[in-house]
Amino acid sequence: MPAVIVLGAQWGDEGKGKATDQLGQRTDVVVKFNGGNNAGHTVVVDGEKYALHLLPAGILSKGVTPLIGNGVVVDLSVLFDEMEQISARGVDCSKLKISAAAHIIPPYNRLVDNASEKLLGDKQIGTTGRGIGPTYADKMNRIGIRIQDLFDPPTLEQKVRSALAQKNPLLESVGMETLDPEEVTRELLSYADRVRPMVVDASLLVNDALDEGKTVLFEGGQATMLDIDHGTYPFVTSSNPTAGGALTGTGVGPTRIDRVVGVAKAYTTRVGEGPFPTELTDEVGDELRKRGGEFGVTTGRPRRTGWFDAVVVRYASRVNGLTDLCLTKLDVLTGYDTIPVCVAYEVNGQRLDEMPMNQSDFEAATPIYEEMPGWSDDISGVRTFEDLPQKAQEYVLRLEELSKCRISSIGVGAGREAIIVRHAL
Ligand code: GDP
Ligand code: IMO
Ligand code: MG
Repeated sequence: MPAVIVLGAQWGDEGKGKATDQLGQRTDVVVKFNGGNNAGHTVVVDGEKYALHLLPAGILSKGVTPLIGNGVVVDLSVLFDEMEQISARGVDCSKLKISAAAHIIPPYNRLVDNASEKLLGDKQIGTTGRGIGPTYADKMNRIGIRIQDLFDPPTLEQKVRSALAQKNPLLESVGMETLDPEEVTRELLSYADRVRPMVVDASLLVNDALDEGKTVLFEGGQATMLDIDHGTYPFVTSSNPTAGGALTGTGVGPTRIDRVVGVAKAYTTRVGEGPFPTELTDEVGDELRKRGGEFGVTTGRPRRTGWFDAVVVRYASRVNGLTDLCLTKLDVLTGYDTIPVCVAYEVNGQRLDEMPMNQSDFEAATPIYEEMPGWSDDISGVRTFEDLPQKAQEYVLRLEELSKCRISSIGVGAGREAIIVRHAL
């Protein structure tokens, strides 16, 4: 498996961290290509739980070079806090590398994120408040600050000044504190010496590794339905968590990619605002949240819960050109008599088998369900597909058929080892 992209096929928190860690044990480089510390990737190794935000999940595997690609937005204070915390638990962070072209989340963009949400009022996105959107907006607007700017103080200060000329009036308009360019520059420069040894040309590193026959894993943050182009806009994040983002976010060409693995839960969750056709807003949804432990790793917010939406995962298969699906949290569904699966939508009296083209149609979509029989035996110790209860096998096979992508692995617990591999990558 020379070059493998791992990405979210739903609305995030599918278990990408665990999937990356699992594959990462056989990988040379793990590179993050999008997002920032809006992500929360959980990995459980020998009962020890690690919640990673900016660091690639590959950092937990010995011998891996963890890399932060140009497509990531980096909050330097968070990066160093996370490195300190994880080092204190015995994890080696000394091999971490970071692209010179990655953008920095300057302190003012956390404030701007909150100010923008305030201005949206009841139409707010429900962002993580980490400054992600404003930092990608600055990148597109060509007023962003990059890692390499830390090593050119006069240019850095000039860039901070230009950005603050736009940001301060906005902050003032919502009664928030304004920031002083010199102070911001000083704060950013305080990280320069620590960042310097980590900085690389990430595109060169990844391409060289592939040329040498090494394996590279591209770890996505967020997910397809949160993609700025292909997600439920405007209720999305501000990057491209889809497969194309892995290319632009690291500097490799499409011809280099061997596998694209979508990670999907055996049901669905979503954090933040926006449409979610299979959402369960009643006690059934509460029960699913409780069973699945569906509370955000980053913000602690309760996740919205619902049944598996095959239209969404089929869409993710198409948009990303998925070669494989990793189905997670099948164990959470043990104990239901029947399990509804959304196979299509009804929109304004018409059946739709594919994702509606228009956001307003998606908002109006109601799920058409097929009822699958459930199973009651504990499956958390099962390690082969054939050992799963018959009904659980049928559930997986039906999801595979509906998703139009083979299900190569199945998660049956949070631990690194709690996985059934049907097709090795
Ligand atoms: P990510 O953002 O996609 O990496 O996912 P999160 O870490 O935010 O959320 C996934 C949660 O499910 C974490 O608490 C994982 O430890 C947990 N998890 C992952 N796979 C499985 C699984 O197969 N079964 C169970 N029960 N938990 C899982
Ligand atoms: P991982 O990588 C789930 C959601 C936020 C909000 C929207 C925009 O752990 O799967 P942002 O702060 O990015 O501008 O917020 O996107 N969101 C996530 N939801 N998992 C994530 O990451 C998310 N990252 C952002 O809740 O609705
Ligand atoms: Mg998460």
